[in-house]
Amino acid sequence: MKICVIGSGYVGLVSGACFAELGNNVICVDKNLDKISNLKNGVIPIYEPGLEELIQRNVMQKRLQFSTNISKSIIKSDIIFICVGTPTKIKSNEADLKYIFQVVKDLKKNLNKYKIIVTKSTVPVTTCDKIQKLLTTKTNKKLFDVVSNPEFLREGEAIRDFMFPDRVVVGTNSKKANIILKNLYSPIIKKKGRYFNTSRRAAEVIKYAANAFLATKITFINEIANLCEKLNVDVTDVSLGIGTDERIGARFLRAGPGYGGSCFPKDTRALVSTSKKFKTNLSIVKSTIYSNDTRYKHLLTKIKEILNNNLNNKKITFLGVTFKAGTDDMRDSASLKLIPYLIKKGSKVSYYEPTGIKNVFDKKKVIYFNNIKDACKNSDLIIINTEWNEFKQLNFNRLNNKKKFKIYDLRNLYSPSKMKNKNIKYFSIGR
Ligand SMILES: NC(=O)c1ccc[n+]([C@@H]2O[C@H](COP(=O)([O-])OP(=O)(O)OC[C@H]3O[C@@H](n4cnc5c(N)ncnc54)[C@H](O)[C@@H]3O)[C@@H](O)[C@H]2O)c1
Repeated sequence: MKICVIGSGYVGLVSGACFAELGNNVICVDKNLDKISNLKNGVIPIYEPGLEELIQRNVMQKRLQFSTNISKSIIKSDIIFICVGTPTKIKSNEADLKYIFQVVKDLKKNLNKYKIIVTKSTVPVTTCDKIQKLLTTKTNKKLFDVVSNPEFLREGEAIRDFMFPDRVVVGTNSKKANIILKNLYSPIIKKKGRYFNTSRRAAEVIKYAANAFLATKITFINEIANLCEKLNVDVTDVSLGIGTDERIGARFLRAGPGYGGSCFPKDTRALVSTSKKFKTNLSIVKSTIYSNDTRYKHLLTKIKEILNNNLNNKKITFLGVTFKAGTDDMRDSASLKLIPYLIKKGSKVSYYEPTGIKNVFDKKKVIYFNNIKDACKNSDLIIINTEWNEFKQLNFNRLNNKKKFKIYDLRNLYSPSKMKNKNIKYFSIGR
């Protein structure tokens, strides 16, 4: 199939490269000229394991191209995947659909033959109805179908998630579009995934409901962890004890610093905003948002306790600053709330981050080290913020020459008893 992917970010690049790998001809377009020029020169704008090799291979096989010419790319293609961002609006919790509607303008001018227009971006229910209305003229009704095909990939595991999905959801009542998309996805449905053809609105709701449920699951175990801390109970025992119940499931039950990233925070907010519009009270999702938004306060209280209420001049090292391991994505990471507060209180903050220096921090105040050893040297407190493999078996006594350094492990990577045996003052979540 000839495919055009509009928006070459995490979702667009991964989807484009994977569709090319499955034998399709794909053009990934973006309005960001630098991004496309870099991609043409083999520079991948995001960190995603395996993506560089996948892109290189498919570019070499001439199945994958990059372009800034949106019109030309649309004209050449049979299926258009919209993969642009849908961030939260600045002054409300609603999803900002301005990028989607910019794309719709480009589409309207270039409907030269039958095309399937697919929203892979996460969009509030009824967005596809609006896109269809905006595209329709008196003469072009049969020239397109608008389909919702939400994407469930996770950053850090994106290629595997795309190639071996739990399910593919295609929301359309057009038989023609459904047959073409089922055929497009057939190589990966055969492997493991399941293909669901639903109504377009149901597909839009499925994506938000899935993210809100997972965000709630994480938040639930974080609140249970708060209780465990008061009771001297290990939350990892509780996670295991409830997660082995098949009705509950073990995943997304690891207590930590709270959810972040580009999806859960914005999608839970957008879902609540949609529910208001349709006069429905999603009280559970609202509570999840509140609990997660305020989780950093609990972490800060704990940091103060660990440092005996004296943050001034304390050297604090962050191991990892992204919202989770396996990605360079800083969006809504816990570190964005913790680090500025600690700096304000006079702490000297440094960090090591496997995906490199981050521009969001003031370079003079928040010091980046390109290796763990230099970052940890002389630290009063080491905060393990993300669960990268390289943080899992460190010899802290060798990394830190201070006698009385402490560790706050926000990912429960180490055993408290082993740390005690090593004479390290070790604190973690819910234990
Ligand atoms: N990141 C994830 O893990 C993930 C997972 C599932 C779904 N989603 C959803 O997919 C969508 C995209 O997310 P992302 O993380 O890939 O975003 P991103 O910000 O990484 O990439 C979006 C890209 O779209 C481009 N763009 C914006 N407007 C454009 C236009 N008019 N024409 C051409 N290009 C344009 C931007 O320049 C950018 O490169 C969002 O709706 C998101 O919620 C994201």
